[in-house]
Amino acid sequence: MLHAMERLCARVKAWPKEHGGIMATDRTVELRNGEEVSALGLGTWRMGESRSARSGEIAALRAGLDLGLTLIDTAEMYGEGGAEEVVGEAIKGRRDGVFLVSKVYPHNASAKGVVSACERSLKRLGTDRLDLYLLHWRGSIPLADTVKGFERLLADGKVRMWGVSNFDVNDMTELGGIPGGQASAANQVLYHLGARGIDFELIARCRESRAAVMAYSPLGQGQLLKSTCLVQLANKYGVEPAAIALAWLLRQPDVIAIPKASNLSHVAANARALDVTLNAEDLALLDRTFPPPRRATPLEMI
Ligand SMILES: NC(=O)c1ccc[n+]([C@@H]2O[C@H](COP(=O)([O-])OP(=O)(O)OC[C@H]3O[C@@H](n4cnc5c(N)ncnc54)[C@H](OP(=O)(O)O)[C@@H]3O)[C@@H](O)[C@H]2O)c1
Repeated sequence: MLHAMERLCARVKAWPKEHGGIMATDRTVELRNGEEVSALGLGTWRMGESRSARSGEIAALRAGLDLGLTLIDTAEMYGEGGAEEVVGEAIKGRRDGVFLVSKVYPHNASAKGVVSACERSLKRLGTDRLDLYLLHWRGSIPLADTVKGFERLLADGKVRMWGVSNFDVNDMTELGGIPGGQASAANQVLYHLGARGIDFELIARCRESRAAVMAYSPLGQGQLLKSTCLVQLANKYGVEPAAIALAWLLRQPDVIAIPKASNLSHVAANARALDVTLNAEDLALLDRTFPPPRRATPLEMI
């Protein structure tokens, strides 16, 4: 008899066929270089912090990849390298099928520091290149120095694209004004139904600079999911509330969502977001419950 976890894994693997073969690969976001990446990815914050949780975390990431959620977001910060090691294990033998994103600490983001930090990340991840490397948030090192470091990494083939995270409108403007700064491929920001300040201006600003928006904490770290409105829509579509929260983000063609799930049933539930197309009535209900911003507010961060 199969162990409960194996049964769940088998169900997760079988799911795409049972549900009409819809996989995350059916929903992609085109990056500025024309490359298509999975619009629904896998977050890793809080992974790699405990030895006993590792095998479960690796299994969850592998299950997500099997479902076609082929973009993984990590950072040198997560578990102080532990999350990158977990990701390294999860992608072993299948690196080419993964779009790998990592982030550099601001205090490591000098022209030289960013190169060394990236090399350490590559080692932990067991790969020779990152697909996208982000400045995790702004620190005191001038942006021009960080961009120089990113350019060195591009030239050496250690990074295929670079971008930023937690950049507000003024940060995007400053970045766009420095040599090479216009090449940023993404801005990873807090974005979910309960934190939609970027709808006022930043999302349009990212579109103008052709930087994809990567929505972090897309489930509001789980807090959103008790909302009666989400539960109501989840019942309507036969999915879990998380799938509705994610479908709301993914209705936009240039938004990538990176929910984190260590639990296999959560991974499967999140992938169901790809089955859901919210209609105008659903969106109006969500707008009433989670009103869009009426004025500019500073970018929220976690
Ligand atoms: N750039 C930045 O500054 C920044 C900041 C924060 C996050 N991030 C990135 O964004 C990723 C996602 O954000 P996050 O981890 O803060 O929060 P999140 O993805 O909004 O929520 C994660 C939490 O929700 C739970 N969960 C996942 N799927 C669920 C489901 N279907 N039903 C119920 N609960 C579910 C997870 O539990 P289990 O783990 O137990 O499944 C976990 O506790 C991070 O992991 C990280 O990669 C980036």
